[in-house]
Amino acid sequence: MSKRRIGVLTGGGDCPGLNAVIRAVAKTAMNECGMEVVGFKDGFTGLIEGRFQRLANKDVSGILTLGGTILGTTNRDDPFKHPETRKGKLVFRDRSARCVALCRKLRLDALVCIGGDGTMSIAQKLNEKGIPVVGVPKTIDNDLVGTDITFGFDSAVTTAAEAIDKLHTTAMSHHRVMVIEVMGRYAGWLGLHAGIAGGGDVILIPEIPFDIQKVCERVKDRNRRGKRFSIVVVAEGAKPKGGVLVVKKVVEGSHDKLRLGGIGQQVGDEIERRTGLETRVTVLGHLQRGGTPTAFDRILATRFGSEAVKLIAREEFGRMVSLRGQDVASVPLSEAAGKQRLVPPDSPLIAVARSVGTCFGD
Ligand code: F6P
Repeated sequence: MSKRRIGVLTGGGDCPGLNAVIRAVAKTAMNECGMEVVGFKDGFTGLIEGRFQRLANKDVSGILTLGGTILGTTNRDDPFKHPETRKGKLVFRDRSARCVALCRKLRLDALVCIGGDGTMSIAQKLNEKGIPVVGVPKTIDNDLVGTDITFGFDSAVTTAAEAIDKLHTTAMSHHRVMVIEVMGRYAGWLGLHAGIAGGGDVILIPEIPFDIQKVCERVKDRNRRGKRFSIVVVAEGAKPKGGVLVVKKVVEGSHDKLRLGGIGQQVGDEIERRTGLETRVTVLGHLQRGGTPTAFDRILATRFGSEAVKLIAREEFGRMVSLRGQDVASVPLSEAAGKQRLVPPDSPLIAVARSVGTCFGD
């Protein structure tokens, strides 16, 4: 009987821990299940264009702590809507049949798709089309349904909290208001966690529309009490009551075309105008997606990658590995695909933050 063979790809935006998953998938497959592993380049684009490499032990050795993904990725491709240029015009073609044919030609028993919401939606459709798929949930936004935590989130929170710590010192020395805009898309998990970890005086998240007057009152009140600086953490998806999201750019061909950004500057300008206090704005941007994964993310990524192969070995396809409490489990891909997990208004973490005096601008 020929050796079993699996494929692996990383889709969507990169984040710390992707390489740790690739390593765990490949090592578990090779060492424990006697499988061969093929890595597709640049996410689904490699699957469509037939760009892949056989992964041997040497390829996945020494990558546990490495940020990014050795396979490359893109958040602008979808086998069901592949962007192509015809006569100078951008058109979208369904290239999913090509992907199925390639997997059959390579005699792949299954494909591991590591990614966020967009990747899981595509993974589910490919699974329905005949490629046995297992998903691994990744994103710094932590907004995937079906898992308590995605890997990459803890690293992004740590990076953001360290940045806030650094901005704290200038805030104190110069008696300034420091506004820090963090990523997270439509969910406030990153803003909430980083804000609490960094001791934010004000935290603005998408789930709680804010009143800028309330934010300014908190800043002025701190000043009156002798705290002549304030730290204001703003999630990129935060919006004022009755207001709209601030969109930085539109990326055609992306699962979600909108790129958010700019609300931090708006909040900073308004605070300075209304309070007269010197204010500076820092946008952390892609720094939050870079660098070495935290120990927590290395462990989670390793557990996830290893479990993905175990699911394949048990022929449990069409599922996404997940974390439930302390345990690694799995859920049907359909449960995770196309949905968003937002911070619930009654989140215990919001309650805790309020207890220590954090203002949410509401
Ligand atoms: O989903 C991860 C994320 O970093 C979001 O937090 C952010 O809104 C978006 O991706 C940025 O995307 P891009 O890398 O395309 O600018």
